[in-house]
Amino acid sequence: MSGVRVTADYELCRLILRDRRFGIVTPNHPALPKPIRWMMTKTDLGLPNLGEPPSMLVTDPPDHTRYRRMVGQAFGPKAIATLDERVTEVADDLVERLSSKPRPDLIQDFCTQLPVTIIAEILGLPDTMHSTLLKWGDSGAPLLERGLPWSTYRHAIEDLAEVQLYFDRYFDGLTADPQDDVLSMLVTGDELTRREQVANAALLLDAGFLTTVNMLGNGIVLLTSHPDQLELCTAQPELWPNAVEEILRYDGPVRMTGRVANCDVDIADQHITAGSLVLLSLAGANDDPAVFPDPQQFDVTRDNAGEHLAFGSGIHGCLGARLARLEGAVALRALFERYPDLSLDGPPIPHPLRNLHAYRSIPAMLSAA
Ligand code: HEM
Repeated sequence: MSGVRVTADYELCRLILRDRRFGIVTPNHPALPKPIRWMMTKTDLGLPNLGEPPSMLVTDPPDHTRYRRMVGQAFGPKAIATLDERVTEVADDLVERLSSKPRPDLIQDFCTQLPVTIIAEILGLPDTMHSTLLKWGDSGAPLLERGLPWSTYRHAIEDLAEVQLYFDRYFDGLTADPQDDVLSMLVTGDELTRREQVANAALLLDAGFLTTVNMLGNGIVLLTSHPDQLELCTAQPELWPNAVEEILRYDGPVRMTGRVANCDVDIADQHITAGSLVLLSLAGANDDPAVFPDPQQFDVTRDNAGEHLAFGSGIHGCLGARLARLEGAVALRALFERYPDLSLDGPPIPHPLRNLHAYRSIPAMLSAA
């Protein structure tokens, strides 16, 4: 039988993500509702949409392998280890600056600032661009969601035209004078067309801060609502990296992904015909009691928290996972060490996107009133 299947089973999600008989879902896949496909065909102007090829997120091998190879090293263990000091410096500075704002919105004033600063530095973009990058990120995030209202989609596409123009000019400069940064890696060697370069630059930029912002926000909300767990972290700072894994497991920002069977596949007692769509609930998998005992318990000491699927798995598994983990542990530790009495100043405001579990705003008080 063809059609759409959904699973929240951890082993099955992991298996499908790692199974080369399944490929990525293109935006015009026939199993997607007609209006979505129509919208895509009406607006695919070759803009660097992160949810469309040639963004590596939605490209199968062999092109995917080519794109990922060009930038993989910059996000590998060696490269990320060298960033520890810089991430700490930026986080400490942001935490200090918060002191002039006793009732901050932690999303705007803290969570967005660290990831955008770091990814801009990795990509080699000037810091004068931060507010523009945040604006592009805000309008671009919905493009990873299917079934958007037309007005949201059109707004995102308008901003993408700016992204296209900016990177096109920027890459002209880099081609003439390459630097020691990730975007220069994309232009050297004549391996990628300009369209491939721009699409993957836009993906690295958006993926590089959007989800990390939300991991930090979700972490702040979880820790302030579980003071016993926060106390464990502040008493034993070596727990912060595991606390970040547990935050990602318990409330990871990306709820779902999907794959298409490239051929007929028999799996988990199901016959999946070529072309069928399988939706994989990453949030459901991370809540699977067969892998995570008592999954509704938020436990920063959980032994296997790091086995979560919040970063996906397999060949499309998150390229920036190491960076996100580093930013999470450093930023949350810096924030709660400097403001041990930090509390929420009213309920956090949820992000309207369905596939991104996140907050748009977290009003807070830095010290007890
Ligand atoms: C907490 C933060 C993050 C989360 C939860 C997250 C989540 C994910 C997930 C679930 C995927 C796989 C999607 C799929 O298979 O359909 C993915 C892919 C990706 N992520 Fe992240 N991500 C995060 C941070 C980052 C950062 C900091 C970067 C920096 C560059 C990044 C870059 C990417 C890229 C380039 C891909 C596509 C990889 C490929 O297709 O080969 N991500 N991410």
